[in-house]
Amino acid sequence: MLFGAGGPLTPDIEESCTRRGIEVAAAVMNRAGPGYALDDAKLVPLAALDGALLALPFLCPLFTPANRRAAVAEASALGLRPAAALVDPTAIVASSASLADGVFVAAGAILAALARLGEHVLVNRGASIGHHTELGTFASIGPGAVLTGQVRIGPGAMIGAGAVVCPGVTVGADSVVAPGAVLRRDLPDGSRAAGNPAVILGRPRLSA
Ligand SMILES: CC(C)(COP(=O)(O)OP(=O)(O)OC[C@H]1O[C@@H](n2cnc3c(N)ncnc32)[C@H](O)[C@@H]1OP(=O)(O)O)[C@@H](O)C(=O)NCCC(=O)NCCS
Repeated sequence: MLFGAGGPLTPDIEESCTRRGIEVAAAVMNRAGPGYALDDAKLVPLAALDGALLALPFLCPLFTPANRRAAVAEASALGLRPAAALVDPTAIVASSASLADGVFVAAGAILAALARLGEHVLVNRGASIGHHTELGTFASIGPGAVLTGQVRIGPGAMIGAGAVVCPGVTVGADSVVAPGAVLRRDLPDGSRAAGNPAVILGRPRLSA
């Protein structure tokens, strides 16, 4: 089951499930607003969650870390349990990488040796996660981002599409790296950086 179908990434996760031979029973709308699913018949309001659906493991398809964290808290309060990591079959995952529950790794991503992904991490299409890189819980990595080697991404941080994080650099918790940025120095918790070389712009406003 997918919990948080207001995120436009939902159909991509459904496609990964299809490629893995997993059936998505429902895409839960935990907020009012538009819902995204390959088949609208799968969209289910919170109020319609019954015993059978509540027994299913879930993944959260929201890219913005704060939204995903809130939705997961909501799902957990309902008694739902996170699914084991879902990895698109076109991704390449080192045998020495470790992936916690609730993780989603999208099509074409690469996880190099000894990469460690905490609970509910989201790695989008074609991102490259270098050796010895650690992604804290609820971190989101945008399409095509490159985390070189021995990078640390703090809990709830967001790396924009196509950004590059240089070797050994740490991105603080809940920080945002803008699309296309080249981050050469550590980024403190709760900050926002953009450009090449990336400069700190202040505190994050939006994450995605
Ligand atoms: C980076 C981002 C999170 C910042 O959002 P925000 O906090 O609302 O900030 P703004 O968009 O208002 O931009 C703030 C400043 O950063 C600059 N900026 C934003 N993105 C930038 C980028 N990629 N490169 C350089 N500068 C950038 C803006 O020009 C603006 O500068 P100004 O204050 O001088 O006008 C947002 O612009 C963004 O790109 N989100 C998408 C991230 C992504 O890749 N998601 C993937 C989803 S799958």
